[in-house]
Parts: sequence; structure tokens; C-alpha cells
Amino acid sequence: MSRLAVTIGGVRLKNPVIAASGEHLIDDAGILSAIRAGAGAVVMKSANESAPAQRQLLQAEYAALDHRWNRLDWSGDTAADATLLTRSGLSPLGFDDWLAQAVRMDLEARKHDCLLVGSVVMAGIEGAVERARALEAAGIRVFEFNIGTPMRARPPRARFRPSSRPSASRIWSAASPPRSISPSGSSCRARANA
Ligand SMILES: Cc1cc2nc3c(=O)[nH]c(=O)nc-3n(C[C@H](O)[C@H](O)[C@H](O)COP(=O)(O)O)c2cc1C
Repeated sequence: MSRLAVTIGGVRLKNPVIAASGEHLIDDAGILSAIRAGAGAVVMKSANESAPAQRQLLQAEYAALDHRWNRLDWSGDTAADATLLTRSGLSPLGFDDWLAQAVRMDLEARKHDCLLVGSVVMAGIEGAVERARALEAAGIRVFEFNIGTPMRARPPRARFRPSSRPSASRIWSAASPPRSISPSGSSCRARANA
């Protein structure tokens, strides 16, 4: 048994290295490389049912900057200490493709004793519940429900609920695999969201 194994919230990881959700974990290639590199858990790029959130990722600009904020070419040769400036969005995949990707990636993760985590950033609670249930039915072992994105502090009313507490408890009762609820640590509403 690995001496690096840890248990977090009842979930055992072979080691405490968790590849956090982001652009590098959108495509199969990025997810597979994190799994094969030995991460204890890999959190897939978050998704939801919001078309603007999907479009936002496709429209996002990325700029690699040096230590004097000069723009660099962003390629395989970009200096490792460059800063990457961007405004992210969410997975551009539709529901079926997103679920199929999770199942595909989970198969590979299991071969490496890695936990594949499905992640949803809340747009609406019913969409989040539907995704949590679909992940559970598909055998995905851990679900991350992110209600803590910075934009949560000033929610467009049509897309976000005013309080995150009912949303968290609805997800808690909707699905049974270990769930991680991420309240905002980056906004002044952190305490209200907890
Ligand atoms: C470009 C970018 C995209 C991200 N996308 C997501 C996301 O889709 N879902 C999510 O839960 N967190 C997302 N995050 C947050 C990261 O997973 C991570 O929690 C955060 O960057 C803090 O870790 P760090 O201090 O190592 O950067 C993103 C972060 C960055 C910089």
C-alpha cells in the first residue's frame, strides 16, 4: 500500500496530489496525462447547462506574459515561468458528450488507482441536480459542486439563485456519492455561502 495514501472526507486517494479543474483538463489528452502522471485525483473541467458559459470559453483570450508584462508567443517553447492571463469559461461540451467523456476518463483513472472527479459550476439548481444524478448513475465516484466562483458574488439573477445554502442541500440529497461543495473563498460572501 502506498505510504502517500490519504483519506479526505471519507474518500481515499492514493496520494494527496489533486489536479485542479482548468483548461488543461478539458480535452481527453490533458486528463489522461494527469491520470498517467500519477495524480491521486483529477477534477475534469467544470460544466453546466449555460450556453453563455460554454461560449465564454470558446471566446476566451489567453496571453502569455514575461516578468515585465511583455506579451510572449504562447507555444510549446514558452518559458515555464511565464504568466498566463485569461478569463476562463466552462466546458464547451454538451450534456451527452460531457457525460461520455467522464465515463471514458473514469475507466482510465480506475486503472491507475486515480479518482476521476466530475465538476459542475452552478448555473441553475435543476441542471446541477440532473448532472449529479447522471454522474452517479454512470459510476463516477466523486462529484464537485462549485457554488463559489467569484462571479457568484454578483449573480445575474436569471442564472443563479440568491442563496447557495438551499442549492448545496438539494445536491446533498439528490445524489449519494461523495460530494465536495466549494463555497466561495474569493468573495466577501464566503461566510454566507459556507
Ligand atoms: C484558467 C483557470 C480555469 C479554471 N477552471 C475551473 C473550473 O472549470 N472549475 C473549477 O472548479 N475551478 C476552476 N479553476 C480553479 C482551479 O481549479 C483552482 O482551484 C484554483 O486555480 C486555485 O488553485 P491554484 O492556487 O493552484 O491556482 C480554474 C482556474 C484557472 C486559473
